[in-house]
Amino acid sequence: MDAPARLPVFRATTAQVGGLFPLLAAGGVPAVGARMGYDASSGSAFYAHPAEWVAPGDGRAKLVTNPNMMFYGEPGRGKSSTVLAFCLRMMPFGFKTLISGDRKGEYTPVLRALGIEPIVLGAGSPRRLNALDLGPLRVRWDTWSHDRQRRELEVVLVRWNRLLLALSADQGYAPTVTDEYVLHTVLRWLIGADDTTTGLRPVTIPQVTRLLADPDDALWLLEISAGVFVGKVTTRVRELLWLRTVDMVKTGRAIMVFSADNEQGLDFRTHKHDWIPTEIEGITLMLRPNPENEQRRPTGDPDRSTGWSSASRRRRFRGR
Ligand SMILES: Nc1ncnc2c1ncn2[C@@H]1O[C@H](COP(=O)(O)OP(=O)(O)OP(=O)(O)O)[C@@H](O)[C@H]1O
Ligand SMILES: [Mg+2]
Repeated sequence: MDAPARLPVFRATTAQVGGLFPLLAAGGVPAVGARMGYDASSGSAFYAHPAEWVAPGDGRAKLVTNPNMMFYGEPGRGKSSTVLAFCLRMMPFGFKTLISGDRKGEYTPVLRALGIEPIVLGAGSPRRLNALDLGPLRVRWDTWSHDRQRRELEVVLVRWNRLLLALSADQGYAPTVTDEYVLHTVLRWLIGADDTTTGLRPVTIPQVTRLLADPDDALWLLEISAGVFVGKVTTRVRELLWLRTVDMVKTGRAIMVFSADNEQGLDFRTHKHDWIPTEIEGITLMLRPNPENEQRRPTGDPDRSTGWSSASRRRRFRGR
């Protein structure tokens, strides 16, 4: 008589068996959102709706705390196709998709089929993406306290600074700490950071490059009193500032005092001032106008006293 072969018997605790035999009857994710296929564990239909998973409706359980998704898979296994199918299938639920780039040309044909014309950026394209746009921050700006505005702005400025430095590094330039400082100053200036009451001005990269190439004087100097600017600048910048000042004040007065390697340790320039710096034996003195000698005041270059011989100057000043 043939006896049936006896099945081997295994014994284990319920905890171990639970690991081996999951009894997959659970529904998994709720049937809301894009239907993407089937759940390989349970065989039930698989739906994806990350927003609903985070903020569930109808008394459903919250499944995740963050709606981000990542797609992993070997090359050519259907990652892109799945993403595209997901985006398409979320459209009826009112979801909009921003595709920030289409390097492989996978999305463009689908967009065109949907009647959407992709925005083309890059060389030859007249379209511009403002990398220095404030984005949604601008909308909320006015609702924030001054303190909050200052904090938020510092974060934005640091981000922009990093971006611009990275762009210049990408062009083969090695940015220095000074560059960083200058950029920060220029960005603050452009956005109007010191005048938060009027809101923030939009900033674009061409504005930054223009201001860097042709800096406004006030950028580098501190106005300590109305019309009184102080600052530490190079000789070249100082001379440029002076030329610009003279140009700006036109018939108004201007005076510039700066440290110099001479006995007095300082030197100055004047423009349209009645008092004229005059060098007397190596020391610069101020020549004050004397109404009686009005006709003897030098003419011509108003910046410097010219037209007097050293001897006559000496004679004149000794008499005082
Ligand atoms: N479920 C599917 N059934 C049949 N063909 C599919 C399926 N999913 C994707 N494909 C096809 O497989 C090929 C590779 O798909 P896809 O480009 O989406 O893969 P990928 O994982 O994004 O690849 P890569 O790693 O190169 O980015 C495509 O031709 C696509 O049409
Ligand atoms: Mg792909």
